[in-house]
Amino acid sequence: MQKTEQIEIRRGLKDVYLDTTEASFIDGEIGKLLYRGYSIHDLAEQSTFEEVSYLLLYGRLPTRAELEAFDAGLRAERAIPKEVVDIIDMVKASHPMDVLRTGVSALSAFDPEVRDNSIEATIRKGLRLTAKAPTIVATHERLRKGQRPVEPNLNLNHAGNFLSMLFDKEPSEEEAYIMDVDFILHAEHGANASAFAARVTASTQSDLHSAVVTGIATLKGPAHGGAAEDVMKMAEEIATPENAESYTRQLLESGGRVMGFGHRVYKAEDPRARHLRARSKDLGEKKGEPKWFQILSTLYDVMSPYQAKGIYVNVDFYAGSIYQLMGIPDDLFISLFALGRIPGWTLQVVEQFSNNILIRPLVQYTGPMDLEYVPIEKRG
Ligand code: ACO
Repeated sequence: MQKTEQIEIRRGLKDVYLDTTEASFIDGEIGKLLYRGYSIHDLAEQSTFEEVSYLLLYGRLPTRAELEAFDAGLRAERAIPKEVVDIIDMVKASHPMDVLRTGVSALSAFDPEVRDNSIEATIRKGLRLTAKAPTIVATHERLRKGQRPVEPNLNLNHAGNFLSMLFDKEPSEEEAYIMDVDFILHAEHGANASAFAARVTASTQSDLHSAVVTGIATLKGPAHGGAAEDVMKMAEEIATPENAESYTRQLLESGGRVMGFGHRVYKAEDPRARHLRARSKDLGEKKGEPKWFQILSTLYDVMSPYQAKGIYVNVDFYAGSIYQLMGIPDDLFISLFALGRIPGWTLQVVEQFSNNILIRPLVQYTGPMDLEYVPIEKRG
């Protein structure tokens, strides 16, 4: 018999601390985010995705020589096996996140260290997955459009190479820079749903590929990574800045949620949104398409009374408009989030392996008890 009076249920594990971490610090009340102790603002403004990945995986900023070696290691790992390209081709009609999940799962068959759960091997696998995942996403995009996949360009940085594989064209410096900032902002975020799910998988002493597959599967939902896509769908439905106010009010009055607002942890503005807001505005003006930013700004204003309830914009709010302006299809948006997050998932798995305990909570049973089993021939 369960002792119901002693059970405290925290639905959704709200406000529950799972473990300690040295990965990132989040103060949701004031909108503060640090990776390994460094401000997200300094990293977004001054670092690169390669350097941030090193910082996350090794716990400190690299020297120039260390960064060069790390970057060379990433560049050398960009290609994916032909068999994985064939698998992507077979499933190319699926959603890009399903294809990414399948592609990462398939990569496990070709990774020489797939079963080695040592910290060193897990970091090496994380580096390989970080390097190869953009190739999966770009290869899929090309194949589903009936185009030949583009080989990785070893002369370009991580973000620039991704855009070059996607569009078969070297990106402008500005677009490569924006993609780089976007990857930095998505790289790590504590025990969010996908990282938690990855940790659960790791806690059974499964392996990094399995944990990253879990992370991708969990990120896909609209309550987590799917919001950027939904924000843009909403902006497309709104269509003109003049419609934004009435659309939002109707949505709220009918009990709907405005995508890109609200966060389980942040009860102030998500500090990552600031950088994407600036990029969204600049890029819209440069491309002669300021309307997306104008629509988002009106949504922001209509939602401002909700700040009193702790509902502010989150990282996904401006991201979609940037991707759209860069010519990236809507259904690829979550995959971009996933590409940035691989170092973070790897670090969460490393932390889990470093001090492992099986993650296995309880659920309180509320169904009937001790029912009599009636054989099927006697059931009426
Ligand atoms: N629009 C309108 N109202 C909202 C929104 C929103 N986007 N988000 C929360 N609320 C309201 C809820 O209706 C609820 O109001 P009530 O107390 O009057 O019933 C209150 O705020 C609390 O909402 P919960 O769902 O309990 O908060 P929770 O922490 O569980 O949800 C979540 C967080 C899922 C992100 C939610 O804010 C949401 O659905 N947002 C829209 C989707 C989105 O943008 N997701 C991306 C999150 S960021 C990320 O994963 C990278």
